[in-house]
Amino acid sequence: MTRINVKVDGVDHSDEVEPRMLLVQYLRERLGKTGTVIGCDTSNCGACTVHLDGRSVKSCNMLAVQADGHEVTTIEGLAVDGQLHRMQQAFHEAHALQCGFCTPGMIMQSVDLLNDNPTPSESEIRHGLEGNLCRCTGYQNIVRAVQQAAGVGERA
Ligand code: FES
Ligand code: FES
Repeated sequence: MTRINVKVDGVDHSDEVEPRMLLVQYLRERLGKTGTVIGCDTSNCGACTVHLDGRSVKSCNMLAVQADGHEVTTIEGLAVDGQLHRMQQAFHEAHALQCGFCTPGMIMQSVDLLNDNPTPSESEIRHGLEGNLCRCTGYQNIVRAVQQAAGVGERA
């Protein structure tokens, strides 16, 4: 077992973990952060996306021990004082979800996308979200939500 110290959604945690434990398992099984979901076993769906030191990562694709000394933000840490993050609000208003399974990862990836490029074109949004799969929406409303959050392009 290896001790890790990691801040998750603003709270410091110090835990013994097996070196083989994935970050997504640590978040869900040890910390109860079940808002972060697992949608595949091939690292290609993006449903498990969280932020590590502010940058999006697929939490099924890294080990919990690799988060030692770092700060993780999950979908559960995005709202502040009960106020939805503007990306959460835009997904809600643009009807950018149906079953909702992809939504936590989509939102975390979309926030990172706008941090990099605050005024993306539609094709830049689609390119930025290509690592996140949605089986329900056809992506159109997801793109509109990101445009709305960015204040660019078509409004919902
Ligand atoms: S669960 Fe991580 S990419 Fe699918
Ligand atoms: S809303 Fe169902 S997978 Fe995206």
